[in-house]
Amino acid sequence: MNLILLGPPGAGKGTQAKLLEQKLNMLQLSTGDMLRAAKDKESEIGKKIKLIMAEGNLVTDEIVIELISENIDKSSKCAGFIFDGFPRTLYQADALSELMSSKKQSIDLVIEMRVDDSQLIERIVGRYSCKECGEVYHKVNRPEQKKGVCDNCKSINGFIFREDDTEEALRTRLFNYYRETSSLIGYYYAKKKLTTVDGLLPIETIHDLLYQATKNNL
Ligand code: AP5
Repeated sequence: MNLILLGPPGAGKGTQAKLLEQKLNMLQLSTGDMLRAAKDKESEIGKKIKLIMAEGNLVTDEIVIELISENIDKSSKCAGFIFDGFPRTLYQADALSELMSSKKQSIDLVIEMRVDDSQLIERIVGRYSCKECGEVYHKVNRPEQKKGVCDNCKSINGFIFREDDTEEALRTRLFNYYRETSSLIGYYYAKKKLTTVDGLLPIETIHDLLYQATKNNL
């Protein structure tokens, strides 16, 4: 069972991927997380990726396809993949389809998480994560239970904001979403893979909907 979570920046893809991963022995493959790990390396390519991401632009198809391909090859012992933030272009979607076919697998379900643009800014500027384990929080919607202590790893080493979580970078990210990624909604609808959920519902309610939809396909 392989699932794609599709939606604009701040739709809740990462939050939901992590919750599903814990329950269903699936593996989250987030190209955003992979690129953030790559940009922290002091290589030439790492520096280029850092700049592109900080501005909110898309990294080249070749780089992200290679990252996804490497990670699929490394991970055989899971019940399926949750693609989070990938594919983001029609080229990436075709490449993923070929990659899956070459492994005798397929994309079984694509869930579009729909959120009004006006809500995204509030979600993005309020987001922070644990320095140690990366657990994601929100100032209003999901603060840590005990102030300054990560719910997940209990670290007291503090929290960080993402470099691209600014109003200016978000505008570019949204622009790129509508220009490059939103056509994938029609692409997967035509392939009869698409389901849409209301991304404005509470986190737990969305999780229940996604869990049922995913489990029905396992
Ligand atoms: P990436 O890391 O994929 O970022 P994104 O797609 O912009 O998505 P986000 O991580 O911002 O949001 P999310 O939907 O995961 O929301 P979250 O669950 O955190 O990509 C970053 C960059 O990497 C790109 O701009 C690009 O440069 C590059 N890149 C990545 N993949 C690429 C690709 N395939 N090709 C080319 N370039 C690529 O939730 C957001 C906040 O809202 C959190 O604080 C959360 O607590 C809160 N929240 C979540 N759900 C709810 C809810 N239901 N109600 C209230 N609050 C909620």
